[in-house]
Amino acid sequence: MNAQTEHILASQSRPLDRARALLAEMTLAEKIGQMSQVEATHGYAPDYLGDRLRAGQVGSAINNVDVDIVNELQRIAVEESRLGIPLLIGRDVIHGFKTIMPIPLGQAATWNADLVREGARVAALEASKCGVNWTFAPMIDISRDPRWGRIAESLGECVLLTSELGAAMVEGFQGEDLADDGSIAACAKHFAGYGAVESGRDYATTNIPDTKLRNVYFRPFNAAVDAGVSTLMTSFSDLNGVPASGNSYILKDVLRDEWGFEGFVVSDWDSVRQLQIHGLTENDKQSAYEAANAGVDMEMAGDAYSNHLLTLVEEGLVDEETIDKAVLSILTTKFALGLFEKPYTDPASLPEYGNDRALAAARDTALQSVVLLKNDDAALPLRQADLSSIAVIGPLADAGYEQLGTWIFDGDEELSVTPLQALQELVGEDIDLRYVRAMENSRSRANPEFELAAQTASECDAVLMFLGEESILSGEAHSRADIGLPGDQVELVRRVRAAGKPVIAVILAGRPLTLSNVVDEVDAILYAWHPGTMGGPAIADLLFGRESPSGKLPATFPRVVGQIPIYYSQKNGGKPPSKENTVHIDDIDTFAPQTSLGMSAFHLDTCFTPLFPFGHGLSYTQFEYANIRVSAERIRLGDTVMISAELSNRGDVEADEVVQLYTRDLVASITRPVKELKGYRRVRLVPGETQTVSFDIHTDDLSFYGRDGKRRVEAGLFHVWIGGSSDAAQRTEFRIAE
Ligand code: BGC
Repeated sequence: MNAQTEHILASQSRPLDRARALLAEMTLAEKIGQMSQVEATHGYAPDYLGDRLRAGQVGSAINNVDVDIVNELQRIAVEESRLGIPLLIGRDVIHGFKTIMPIPLGQAATWNADLVREGARVAALEASKCGVNWTFAPMIDISRDPRWGRIAESLGECVLLTSELGAAMVEGFQGEDLADDGSIAACAKHFAGYGAVESGRDYATTNIPDTKLRNVYFRPFNAAVDAGVSTLMTSFSDLNGVPASGNSYILKDVLRDEWGFEGFVVSDWDSVRQLQIHGLTENDKQSAYEAANAGVDMEMAGDAYSNHLLTLVEEGLVDEETIDKAVLSILTTKFALGLFEKPYTDPASLPEYGNDRALAAARDTALQSVVLLKNDDAALPLRQADLSSIAVIGPLADAGYEQLGTWIFDGDEELSVTPLQALQELVGEDIDLRYVRAMENSRSRANPEFELAAQTASECDAVLMFLGEESILSGEAHSRADIGLPGDQVELVRRVRAAGKPVIAVILAGRPLTLSNVVDEVDAILYAWHPGTMGGPAIADLLFGRESPSGKLPATFPRVVGQIPIYYSQKNGGKPPSKENTVHIDDIDTFAPQTSLGMSAFHLDTCFTPLFPFGHGLSYTQFEYANIRVSAERIRLGDTVMISAELSNRGDVEADEVVQLYTRDLVASITRPVKELKGYRRVRLVPGETQTVSFDIHTDDLSFYGRDGKRRVEAGLFHVWIGGSSDAAQRTEFRIAE
């Protein structure tokens, strides 16, 4: 490190003051260098990046996780550049590094912020072993379209759940102090509205009215900012005609001016230059102008900034003050990470990959993420003593890579324990497991093993089918228009079903699938998402009742694609559907078609309800809700009301239940959703036990953004429900008095 930088470290202690002092030493070219992130993956990066590093032209390198190379890049930056500024080393550590947690959508199904925080902590510890100090997570785009491949990376459809679990991820990655070993900077992405891409096509356009942006899509980002997230990433998508990477309304007016965000904003991959492809700009120079003036502080993997910002400043088109603000927040992050004091990584100082803590986090999270969608006649759990043989059928029973899911650049397949391996371990010699893969992969057609699968099913006492999607069918740029089970899986289910044995489906997938055509063909369904490294043991424990399923859906399961978007917090509309005012296409009276038609918002050819609602998830015990109460029927603005209900375990199994509280603001100056999740709690009850579960709701929790874009709480009547899903039946009400 050079003398000036050493002096700054010695004379200032706060990251911001240090950054200010360093900024004052920098040339314009060096400042612009900090605003560039470069890819460092081709060949030996120090060879082709060395000169740029020495000249101070690079602020961050992305995608190199070879610790020796990373240390060498840091060495050149720190020891051979004029000011010795270390690099941010970025990597997508989305749901684990070597040890892989369930996909984020699966993590959201735990409704357990502690587990989500721990998963991110473990990921940060593993990633920092390679010198990574910045991850591009959490992804907190509200996702209400399961066709969109990136729903897998999201925390689902709900504002509260996404906000709270996203904040927990930020805390996990960043730790108590960013400067601690094993803490890395987080990046909340993709700001904003990416989840609303038309028809779920990745990168497509979005049109979101301001009230919806503010009440839905912005809120998790606001929560991440409140949780201290270091950085934000812009979305690839066009938002109401202005692509996010050139959108000063979201990046300046909202993020900086309203929320007071002090970290920095990075573009998405080359999304600055893509402003031209969107049709917003004519060339890279204009793209750099738009992005810099809109508030994008660092350009990811593009060269619009490095090629044009200097000229733009010289021409007076971008103020040096804009550059200074960007660089100040980038440098502040570097100081906060302690990179100036400790630019190099000693892998030996950090825990081993796949250690006990990491595997326990992966297993516990997988265990709580699996959702029991249906369980006819208590088909599950399997009773070991009653079974001598089980047919294990399907392409995902023993696919250690596929169970990891999308975005696992560094995931170690060798650590995976598959369901087949875990089942074998659990049953030992007691039960004969007869495995038939039946399909090469989840998309296969014309499968010669179907006959063998049906035959094996007929010879066994029960059948476990491991179905779903391979990891490549979800994630970025992997959207689907038909989200049923791919390939010939439905045919496989029918053939196996015909053997007449109990059939349990375990579905591994990166999104909610439409299951209408198989739901009645099987006795039970465990929905396991892509459960990660320890998915196998978690699934085996659940199948054999060593633990009761307790996951709850973080996203609505449509019956058919045509219902999308379908989500629990929809608006009522003027003609809401009900059983009485809907009719099915097959029941239309041919002789009096007009009289038989309903008069409400529904589709003629499917039911108006989803197949499985948000929050749904069964258990091996029976939970019963009763006696919902409010502490006061009238409260004033600024008050807190306590809402409670009794939850009883009426079955004979000890189990967790995720208790959910929903409200509805009946009359407001803008229409409000029919239900909004306002609280949830995971509780554990032994058989016969009753617990009173209560939630404190402050009137601020009932606020929304009005027509004027301002946050407000309005007096009036609120309905409130407590239950085990968004279909909760226990309801009461309270009023906020004028
Ligand atoms: C994705 C981002 C990701 C980035 C870096 C982009 O294509 O949209 O989410 O962080 O690549 O890999």
